[in-house]
Amino acid sequence: GAGLGSLARTHSVVFGTAIQARYLEQDAAYRDAVATEASLLVPEWEAKWAALQPEEGRFDTAPLDAILAWARSQRIPVRGHALVWHNAMPDWLPAALAEGRQRALGVLAAHLDVALHHARGQIRDWDVVNEPIANPPGSDVPDPGPGPLRDTPWLRALGPSYVETALRMARERDPTLRLTLNEYGVEEDTPDAAEKRRRLLALLRDLVGRGVPLDAVGIQAHLQLARPFRPEPFAGFLAQIRSLGLAVLVTELDIRETHAAPQDLARRDALVAERAEAFLACAVQGGARTVLSWGLTDRYSWLATEPAVALPNGRVHRGLPLDADYHRKPMWNGMARAFARG
Ligand code: G3I
Repeated sequence: GAGLGSLARTHSVVFGTAIQARYLEQDAAYRDAVATEASLLVPEWEAKWAALQPEEGRFDTAPLDAILAWARSQRIPVRGHALVWHNAMPDWLPAALAEGRQRALGVLAAHLDVALHHARGQIRDWDVVNEPIANPPGSDVPDPGPGPLRDTPWLRALGPSYVETALRMARERDPTLRLTLNEYGVEEDTPDAAEKRRRLLALLRDLVGRGVPLDAVGIQAHLQLARPFRPEPFAGFLAQIRSLGLAVLVTELDIRETHAAPQDLARRDALVAERAEAFLACAVQGGARTVLSWGLTDRYSWLATEPAVALPNGRVHRGLPLDADYHRKPMWNGMARAFARG
């Protein structure tokens, strides 16, 4: 039946998902599910620095090109992720950045030259800066630095103006691009998320106030059932972003269960569906017109593979709309209902 992408489109929302070239290549059911459900794609890995420029000066665009070619064959647009980030850095990059400002600027310029030129006309929207805000002291993974910007090789090499520098360099290279700043941990009703929202808004007000090129804010939405979600604080946050003239995207939706999640699968799936619907209804009412999940099927979710988020005794998170056998879960229905509310 009609996929989430076509359901969302009837309410002027673009729904899409993260994909990986290796799964496209190896799994026909995966290709079918993506083609059915998605109206927008984002490479989960293939456009990151470690994938694109594994050694200085050696670029590997083949995996990204495989995604772009398949997406073109399906007439599905692709967005880019992520140009300046402190993760997925190839081994040579932190050392190069630490050599000083001019070296760091040269390395960044060379990467943007290739990444933006290579995908010009095919990728119109990039996460130019990913996760620049420091996690407050009380967070799961607090940032070692004093904040408000996360203590990263970029901050150390270029100072707090690295965010502005990256945005200006991207705009210079392709004035047609929609430039997005992407962040996580700003969705839920916790003191840490409230502080991170405050920090992000202060950065956005500063950038917009100084005319720094920026078009959109990506809200990753890696939600956790263990954390409360209340529409009001999040809706207020979206309204503040929109009042700056910035678009809002939900860029990486998935839902982590709790370690105490009920063993009963149906109960867990119902809780996940409820949270997805409540969050997306709030996001769409708050002005989000692009929503991406961070994958479609539990089979390939990072939530099933990354040690940092693994559940005990072999249970896996079921935080995506399709189960490991590509069957639509209650979460799929919850998302469809949220889009239908419009
Ligand atoms: O390292 C190999 C590489 O050699 C190989 O060519 C490639 C083939 O696909 O795989 C690489 O393995 C892993 C890669 O995922 C692809 O699966 C990397 O080791 C591993 O670190 C990487 O993890 C990804 C992580 O970002 C770091 O880039 C996760 O899949 C991905 O879900 C996760 O996504 C992030 C977003 O980019 C930003 N927001 C948070 C989100 C979750 O952490």
